[in-house]
Amino acid sequence: MTRNEWIQWATKKLMESAIETARLDAEVLLAHVLHIERIQLHIYPEKEVDQDLGEQYKVLISRRQQQCPVAYLMGMKEFMGLPFQVTPDVLIPRPDTETLVEAVLQWVKECRSEEEELLMADIGTGSGAIAVSLAYYATAIQILATDLSPEALAVAKSNAVRNGVSDRIRFYAGDLLEPLQHQTASLDALISNPPYITEDEMKILPVSVGEYEPSLALEGGKDGLDNYRRMLREGMCLLKPGALVAFEMGWQQGRMLKALMEAAGLENLRILQDLTGLDRVVMGFKKNWQSQD
Ligand SMILES: C[S@@+](CC[C@H](N)C(=O)[O-])C[C@H]1O[C@@H](n2cnc3c(N)ncnc32)[C@H](O)[C@@H]1O
Repeated sequence: MTRNEWIQWATKKLMESAIETARLDAEVLLAHVLHIERIQLHIYPEKEVDQDLGEQYKVLISRRQQQCPVAYLMGMKEFMGLPFQVTPDVLIPRPDTETLVEAVLQWVKECRSEEEELLMADIGTGSGAIAVSLAYYATAIQILATDLSPEALAVAKSNAVRNGVSDRIRFYAGDLLEPLQHQTASLDALISNPPYITEDEMKILPVSVGEYEPSLALEGGKDGLDNYRRMLREGMCLLKPGALVAFEMGWQQGRMLKALMEAAGLENLRILQDLTGLDRVVMGFKKNWQSQD
């Protein structure tokens, strides 16, 4: 069969399985199997596909029909314009999280002098999406990245190498901030996109998320805020006065999370929206010693 015939076959199959992005997924996966750019499918639609590659394509389409996310099928996802390896051990980086990274980069640009090297923590680094892209775009920073999952950390490390920033990120296996307890009053920023799905939301997740993405990356306890509470309790003593705290959160968690951050001693709190206009990021600053109670 030709490229075009395969795409039509696959699009029909995916539509039958109610995949909303059927045509796009059919093209992206064929380009992946053929190791070509998607545009080549349109330039040479009549080219025959080798039989063994056609068989590989069939397997991917069948897994996609079972709702397996395209990123896991390809083993790759682009985030902040950079390539990231993804495996089923890590959350697929979301465009929402780019709002968090961009806000931190903006803070680095606006508030810090160029010579000053900053020390940041990325808690629950997963694929390393946040740590790697921060290190890539802001060169005067060092990052300490933690994750409870050793498998996720292995992926994060490979992504740091892939993007040429492994010399500026140190990885630690452990529970939230526990591996960083020796860093008293030394962090300039605490960044995290922790698991924040509530108990009720966990019951109604789409199959593509609930059955394929690691539950360790999703479950945030009854109200989704367990990990923030712990980070605020354990993390404040690790921050320098004036340090930034920036969290990604669920779109309905802004009011409650802001209150928790205020109670922990953070000030100048701001909520930022993601590209779809939903509340997604909250940031605040540890009070300077002059203004501390
Ligand atoms: C929502 S994912 C975020 C992954 C990545 N930072 C991103 O933004 O794409 C949360 C990550 O936190 C990790 N995690 C969950 N509980 C943890 C804990 N108690 N300590 C450290 N990491 C944890 C998970 O393994 C997962 O990689």
